[in-house]
Amino acid sequence: MDFNLTEEQIMIKDAARDFARTELLPGVIERDELGKFPTEQVKKMGELGFLGMMVDPKYGGGGMDTVSYILAMEEIAAVDASAAVIMSVNNSLACWGIEQYGSESQKQKYLTKLASGEVLGAFALSEPEAGSDATKQRTTAIEKDDHYIINGTKNWITNGKSASIYIIIAHTHPEKGHKGINAFIVERGVEGFDIGPKENKMGIRGSDTHSLMFTDVKVPKENRIGEDGFGFKFAMKVLSGGRIGIAAQALGIAKGAYKLALNYSKERRAFGTEISNHQAIAFKLADMATEIDAARFLCLKAAWDKDQGKNYDVSGAMAKSFTATTAMKVTTEAVQVHGGYGYVREYHVERMMRDAKITEIYEGTTEIQKIVISRGILRE
Ligand code: CAA
Repeated sequence: MDFNLTEEQIMIKDAARDFARTELLPGVIERDELGKFPTEQVKKMGELGFLGMMVDPKYGGGGMDTVSYILAMEEIAAVDASAAVIMSVNNSLACWGIEQYGSESQKQKYLTKLASGEVLGAFALSEPEAGSDATKQRTTAIEKDDHYIINGTKNWITNGKSASIYIIIAHTHPEKGHKGINAFIVERGVEGFDIGPKENKMGIRGSDTHSLMFTDVKVPKENRIGEDGFGFKFAMKVLSGGRIGIAAQALGIAKGAYKLALNYSKERRAFGTEISNHQAIAFKLADMATEIDAARFLCLKAAWDKDQGKNYDVSGAMAKSFTATTAMKVTTEAVQVHGGYGYVREYHVERMMRDAKITEIYEGTTEIQKIVISRGILRE
């Protein structure tokens, strides 16, 4: 078994780390405090190719593998988890969904802009009454002549206001259950499409999360993705790949907090020596490093499965579930290692602890991923 990365993968990882340090680190505390979207930084991410990493170069993407993508995600998230989730939604949900299942004209019209970072994408499945139980959504898209009419509300949408292109999941035939669901590409600015106020979140405060309201929004039929009734499977497949990116986000948060704790422990002195010389601290660092390595192997395995064309539903869910728990544990311990300094903004780790919490929540990490894993292993 070869654990070495290729030269190209190392180059991408290094480029992402440099970008994170030079472009994301300055201002990350302020953006968190003010809930400010990293507009300039995201623009640069697009220019550097971080927003359409896996997309075929013929549509303006980087043509890279999933392993490279998660290596970059880890480095970005280690500094700024908000920038990482913006990147993740654009790459894994918007770009990947359209590239895999969209028509050639949808790819030409939308994917090229998303992959180059000219515009951002969003993916909208969750609703006020349907988060994890995704078949229970109430948004409808009723066929009329050469278009669909969408009505309903979507919740918790990452890139909610910063996006220009949205993938909206809606019932076209509610009586058919999940077989009556479709996915549509909707452009911002169409009549009847309103964006709710920004959520005032505990963490990932630099990313913009909004609800989306649709009142008789007319969407041309050619904007439906895939065959009629494919929408639920589309959403499941897209989210399955998305979990690998989010796992890498959690991994990055854990790594960032661990590195800060490690450095701090070698500088801070107590009882006549650096605190890293006390087992109370050294053992914490040992556990953090071990869990991060285990999490990284799960992420790389899931990404590798995807690159090899293997099924990654279970490995992706395992990676996401384990890294989220790891991120929460490691960031909490990083605050503890810092003592009182860990509890204040300037030292970053309290932000990382708040950021980590979302990785246990979105896509029902600690609950839903176990459904996916258990169903997968029981089926085998
Ligand atoms: N790939 C392909 N098809 C799949 C699939 C997958 N990974 N998972 C399920 N399906 C198919 C099943 O085969 C089944 O099809 P058939 O009837 O033809 O066999 C169909 O989908 C229904 O499957 P289930 O009966 O398993 O569905 P379920 O209702 O029991 O739900 C679930 C399963 C795993 C809990 C699913 O509902 C789920 O993943 N929920 C979480 C949803 C989620 O992550 N929501 C957050 C969205 S993120 C967002 O909106 C905001 C943002 O900013 C990104």
